[in-house]
Amino acid sequence: MPPWRVAIVGAGIGAQHLDAYLGLPEQFQLTCVCDLDVDRAQTLARRVTGCAVTESIDHVLHDPAIDIVDICLPSHLHATVAISALNADKHVICEKPLAGTVIEADALIDVARQSKGVLMPVFQYRYGVAAAQMQALKDNHLLGKAQVATLETHWNRGADYYANDWRGTWAGECGGVLITHAIHSHDLLAQWFGKITAVSATVDTRVNPIETEDTAALILHTDSGGIATSSVTLGAATDTTRIRLVYDNITIESARNPYKPCAEPWTFTARDATQQATIDQVVGAATAGYDHALTGYVGQFHALAQHLTQYLAGQQQSTSQVADAQKPTQWVTVADGVASIELITAAYESARTGSTVSLPLARHLPICHDLVPATTLTDAL
Ligand SMILES: NC(=O)c1ccc[n+]([C@@H]2O[C@H](COP(=O)([O-])OP(=O)(O)OC[C@H]3O[C@@H](n4cnc5c(N)ncnc54)[C@H](O)[C@@H]3O)[C@@H](O)[C@H]2O)c1
Repeated sequence: MPPWRVAIVGAGIGAQHLDAYLGLPEQFQLTCVCDLDVDRAQTLARRVTGCAVTESIDHVLHDPAIDIVDICLPSHLHATVAISALNADKHVICEKPLAGTVIEADALIDVARQSKGVLMPVFQYRYGVAAAQMQALKDNHLLGKAQVATLETHWNRGADYYANDWRGTWAGECGGVLITHAIHSHDLLAQWFGKITAVSATVDTRVNPIETEDTAALILHTDSGGIATSSVTLGAATDTTRIRLVYDNITIESARNPYKPCAEPWTFTARDATQQATIDQVVGAATAGYDHALTGYVGQFHALAQHLTQYLAGQQQSTSQVADAQKPTQWVTVADGVASIELITAAYESARTGSTVSLPLARHLPICHDLVPATTLTDAL
């Protein structure tokens, strides 16, 4: 029962996770920071009285005083450490990407189903006032059918970003910009436009001398009949994420905050002008009722704490076990994490074969087992 005792494993983005825990003192208590770089771990631990520091993930997994293992490690370590933590019956928060391949993600979902621990993949971009506005419009059946969407993930990353040696590599980052940056926009699209059923993609490496892609263009079909185009680069002048969603009844444009696209209100324009007042009233009520503190990581960790309390009281299934159709929208399920890996894999398959790829992917496809292309940029140099 709360406060849940947390170990942050990986003290880079882990610092932002700590900020969020400090905003939820009744729900979480940081008890340990684990990092091979002890100085980095200590910088975080010093912010919390009595917080321990360790270099050993094994120590974290075997410490009975830790309820939640929060994985903020380089991407290639996520699935292995998550599996070990679930096998130790810890609850797990796992930074994106949940896994490096579809097969690894499937293994993780199997372990999660057997564990007493709950696994929650991180998709903190979902949390903010705009999500409440979207949910209210959906609940009031005001959106209409999904038609078309455009997503822009136009960020600026250079040599300083890739100075971290695991970045930009297949072995360390498990992919390029599709897995590092566009993964969030594509998750938001799946949340609001429906499950992605087919993808056609082009990927390229144009901005930095790295192994993986930093540029992409995708056409995405969803099970609601929507069609989306996604434009992705790390060579833009600024960091901008923008989403436009056109439904039968409303055209929606996101705010442009790259790190928290749902933190500020979005714009909602009625196709039939006589409906604008109704839309404004529903959006206004959702905005007024929203606690803005519950944005980004704070919102996601708050949702996890609520879920854990209900789950352990026997009132909810684990997020690992709950069927997609039943999930409250504020949860991120393991299936959502797996779907994000499957989409990226399908995009690579499409780019390499020049074909449109349907989802779900047949598990016998070699790319489900290994994403690395036959020829990498490094080979070509
Ligand atoms: N959700 C988001 O918006 C978001 C933003 C940034 C990063 N991330 C994800 O977070 C993860 C970490 O990214 P980062 O920028 O913090 O990287 P980072 O390299 O800055 O930090 C990773 C830390 O893990 C430590 N580490 C590595 N191997 C270890 C081991 N075996 N045991 C203990 N510690 C170990 C490193 O010393 C390092 O301090 C990545 O997977 C990335 O995709 C997500």
